[in-house]
Amino acid sequence: MIFFGGDYNPEQWPEEVWDEDVTLMRRAGVTIATVGVFSWSNLEPEPGRFEFGWLDRVLDRLHDGGVKVALATPTASPPPWFTLAHPEAMPVTADGVRLSHGSRDTYCVSAPAYRAAARSITTELAARYAHHPALAMWHVHNEYGTDCRCDATAAAFRTWLQKRHGELDTLNEAWTTAFWSQRYSDWAQILPPRATQYLPNPAHVLDFRRFLSDELLGGYVEQRDLLRAANPDVPITTNFVQGGWVSVDHARWAGELDLVAVDHYPAEAGYGTEEETAFGGDLARGWGGGSWLLMETAPNLVYTPGRMHAKEPGQLTRNSLSYLARGSRGAMYFQWRQPRGGAEMFHSAIVPHAGPDSPVFREAIGLGRTLKALGRQEIGANEAQVAIAWDAPSWWALQGGGLPSADIDYAGAVRQAHRAFYHSGIATDFVFPGRDDLAERLRAYKMIVLPHLYLVSDEAAAALREFVAGGGHLVVDHLSGIADPAGRIRLGGYPGAFRDVLGIRVVEWRPLAPATSIALDNGDRGLRWSERVETAGAETLVRYAGDVLAGAPAITHHRFGAGAAWYISPGLDDAALRRLLDQVAAEAGVMPVLPGLPPKVEAVRRDDLIFVFNHGETPGQVQLPGPGQDAVTGRPVPTSVTVPPGGFLAVRLG
Ligand code: GLA
Repeated sequence: MIFFGGDYNPEQWPEEVWDEDVTLMRRAGVTIATVGVFSWSNLEPEPGRFEFGWLDRVLDRLHDGGVKVALATPTASPPPWFTLAHPEAMPVTADGVRLSHGSRDTYCVSAPAYRAAARSITTELAARYAHHPALAMWHVHNEYGTDCRCDATAAAFRTWLQKRHGELDTLNEAWTTAFWSQRYSDWAQILPPRATQYLPNPAHVLDFRRFLSDELLGGYVEQRDLLRAANPDVPITTNFVQGGWVSVDHARWAGELDLVAVDHYPAEAGYGTEEETAFGGDLARGWGGGSWLLMETAPNLVYTPGRMHAKEPGQLTRNSLSYLARGSRGAMYFQWRQPRGGAEMFHSAIVPHAGPDSPVFREAIGLGRTLKALGRQEIGANEAQVAIAWDAPSWWALQGGGLPSADIDYAGAVRQAHRAFYHSGIATDFVFPGRDDLAERLRAYKMIVLPHLYLVSDEAAAALREFVAGGGHLVVDHLSGIADPAGRIRLGGYPGAFRDVLGIRVVEWRPLAPATSIALDNGDRGLRWSERVETAGAETLVRYAGDVLAGAPAITHHRFGAGAAWYISPGLDDAALRRLLDQVAAEAGVMPVLPGLPPKVEAVRRDDLIFVFNHGETPGQVQLPGPGQDAVTGRPVPTSVTVPPGGFLAVRLG
């Protein structure tokens, strides 16, 4: 079964609406509803007094309607009574402000009272619903990521640091506390990063984010284990949220989930949405080890600062299938019914304020039919010959102050590399340099790209070196391989982790001034960044042609063992980066999914099932590897086929 549905909040509506909900869900072909995400104050209106009657009726109704349930624990939003009883469990900002209730995600995961209350409501839900016939999965909490700098957090942070560093002197060394007289002589002196007079210690901030990721994970694991004990057969997940503010290392968390679930809200206007959808889907597949679930996305208007973008007709379907093509086991949305009030009342829904007689609901009905047909198909694995590295700690390390340029954008660099492959029609996976199985994972690929992989362990550097020596093709850009996992610079010339494999040495950084660029001798412009590169075995492919760097290497190529490594010193625009990555891909023998696709036409292959999406405004002519069958309609599909503007095709070859 393909999961199709989304967040359902019946507690916001009178009971007579619930029957209509189930009727409409059946009409749309909804297979699953996520229930209870923010319903703590309805489930436990007073401490220890539980009201489950309404939830019983909701689950029974859904079950009678043939709709499965992802039942959430409501712990992302404790009720007001909890706040008043336990003010010490409210999060404290870096400025020392203790937050109050009135929104959501207002809790401190390290506060004993919060953890006890979370265990209590989870235990009650598990006891009551673990064997409910509608229950398809547990959805723990919602989008873990809440930050707190309180004293309880400080205590937990110290315990975590003792485990990580062992001795206090090791921590002093790792954090370079000799700088600015920060040396600690007692663990008790260490605080979470709080407002300070000037720049904080970057290693301190980095370790805090790692700690917070593990601490939040502890909160998840505690609930997961309670739920698992109640019924080991029900899969358990939590929905990942991505964003620079989120101190969660999803690559580390993934192994603790039965199924990786991801919320993804592409927020760019126009075609950017398709690029972002592809990126989010590929990254989620990486976390999930091949399979994952799109737990939430917007059916129509997406919240973006300053403006919400509406989806074009057909876009809900294309975007949803794009996630499915990239390994998602379904397409789920926030949310089922658009609320009448509350902070997100203008967030889109499958049933909008206008009701079911609306474009979004009509499109959902068609999508439900399509998913039902696809659900009858055997959907194989995705295969890619290229992988991009993703590393949350590198992202965090590149967010601090005191960096050489305000233009440094880790996520932007990764997105740009992914976009280049996306436009060249090359399937892309993600690998995670922090994982122990890196060396083994790399063997699956012909080409690896490391955008801004700033922090690198000796083990990861060795695995990447071995990959190249064994015949792989590696692309490294400026800001990759600069520091060790603690954030200490690898000395002797950048990028310390990869000098030998790249056959270069960078001896001076020369970040570009805002809105300037630097000439390159192939006619392209270097953007944001330049630096003085010396070759030490590498051949120079492109040189800087301006400034004091005129004639110095800008892009290099180095044969290393049976493989080769490229270095890209300047920032490049999309077209230049794509040309370069195409060149490397050609040398590495990487093939596009389908050759010669027209612009804005995308193909994703899962074994012998090929999805083709036409995001453009004109018909797209596509050459398939052979004839096949339309996986939705069953009709024969010839080798040469036209996909209408805004349309899609799912073809089973053979
Ligand atoms: C997240 C949350 C939802 C909702 C949406 C809005 O996915 O889980 O509760 O706030 O964002 O886009």
